[in-house]
Amino acid sequence: MSQTAKIILDGKEYELPVIVGTENEKAVDISQLRSQSGYITYDDGYGNTGSCKSDITFIDGEKGILRYRGVDIAEIAEKSSFLEAAYLIIWGHLPNKAERQEFDDLIQQHEMLHENMKHQFQGFPPQAAPMAVLSAMINSMSCFHSHLYDLDEPHKFLEATAKLLAKVRTIAAFSYKHSIGEPISYPAPGLSYTENFLHMMFDAPNHPYTLDPEVVRAMDLMFLLHADHEQNCSTSTVRMVGSSQANLFTSVAAGVSGLWGRLHGGANQAVLEMLEGIHKRGDSIETVIAKVKDKDSKFRLMGFGHRVYKNFDPRAKIIKKACDDVLKKLGRKDPLLDIAKELEQAALADDYFVERKLYPNVDFYSGIVMRAIGIPLNMFTVMFAIGRMPGWIANWKEVHDSPSQRIYRPRQVYVGPVQRSYEDARKQD
Ligand code: CMC
Repeated sequence: MSQTAKIILDGKEYELPVIVGTENEKAVDISQLRSQSGYITYDDGYGNTGSCKSDITFIDGEKGILRYRGVDIAEIAEKSSFLEAAYLIIWGHLPNKAERQEFDDLIQQHEMLHENMKHQFQGFPPQAAPMAVLSAMINSMSCFHSHLYDLDEPHKFLEATAKLLAKVRTIAAFSYKHSIGEPISYPAPGLSYTENFLHMMFDAPNHPYTLDPEVVRAMDLMFLLHADHEQNCSTSTVRMVGSSQANLFTSVAAGVSGLWGRLHGGANQAVLEMLEGIHKRGDSIETVIAKVKDKDSKFRLMGFGHRVYKNFDPRAKIIKKACDDVLKKLGRKDPLLDIAKELEQAALADDYFVERKLYPNVDFYSGIVMRAIGIPLNMFTVMFAIGRMPGWIANWKEVHDSPSQRIYRPRQVYVGPVQRSYEDARKQD
């Protein structure tokens, strides 16, 4: 017999269905509660709310598990590439040879920008925040590809996906070139997805860029590890916007904006700024930990803590190793890595962090890897956005394809003034 939950409100009992996921995750289905009882549930910050059923990504925060379509992130990181993982996330299976060939060909076919889109970069000031440029330019794709608003037909969805994955990389690289006043570098034929990205970022007429397989692999791994993470702030934003039947490009542009903040994707830049500050000032680890624990300081250890992971972030484990590997292979030392490791050790042994279950997250070491690759600090969150694109696309599609799809529309508990007159609402002199 299926399990139910009971709730008593104003002396009346209501029976609520319990739904169970494939990994035995349980949820009380309250979708009929308001119509039956007049009550809604209240969950500030959605920490306890399942906003959808999804078969894309599974996370067990207590056990530190992350799986894309059932496959463990460590196995994907070891055996796959960003583009193949993107296919898995979006279509639910790894591609066969023909599917992979078609996908690669489409990515190459769509990697250029329309010339008018290219001219748009001239309209931004050189110092414009790269995430603002990225969001604007992805939204601008809605103007250039309006034949792809309706994606009911599979070949159209494939085309829109290939366009987004291919062009987000071109937009990022062109915006960087524009910001430093260098001529843009066009995509080159015969290069892989990530090779081409690095080529567009760093190749210049007076200093050709030589691709290093270690650097390519590290960058590809960064993209792959960020590819999806279930219902985080930016992905929920994409679903929210998509639920109104807004087109894929504009929904994803909203996701870029959601990602930008320091508590989400912007944390990778914030971590590096924090480590650089500690290094420059010569702060001791004890001083930093004491400052974090001092509630008046409002200072957080960036790259630590997670809403879902309460044990460890499996991505952080992989990135920490990648960080050691890439620095070793490039024959570099980075004092910020030493500070990060000392900070991690001190935090993990400190009651403040232990009691609150705060562990390093994906952003704690990713910045050091990107710094080694040569990615400028203000582009770190853009790298996260390129990586997260498959997750946003897959989640948008899940909303779009759901037979029971309704517009996302949360309720609220109103705590403002009760009805008053127009005159009473005016501020007194
Ligand atoms: N440093 C110090 N204290 C922290 C931190 C931190 N990084 N994170 C949480 N806490 C404390 C917080 O002050 C609170 O303490 P108390 O109970 O005494 O008030 C307690 O831990 C719970 O914090 P919370 O803010 O209620 O937790 P949350 O689930 O709302 O926030 C978080 C999750 C990731 C926003 C938060 O841990 C944080 O701000 N971390 C730093 C920013 C960061 O690294 N963000 C990247 C997240 S992973 C990548 C991504 O998904 O984008």
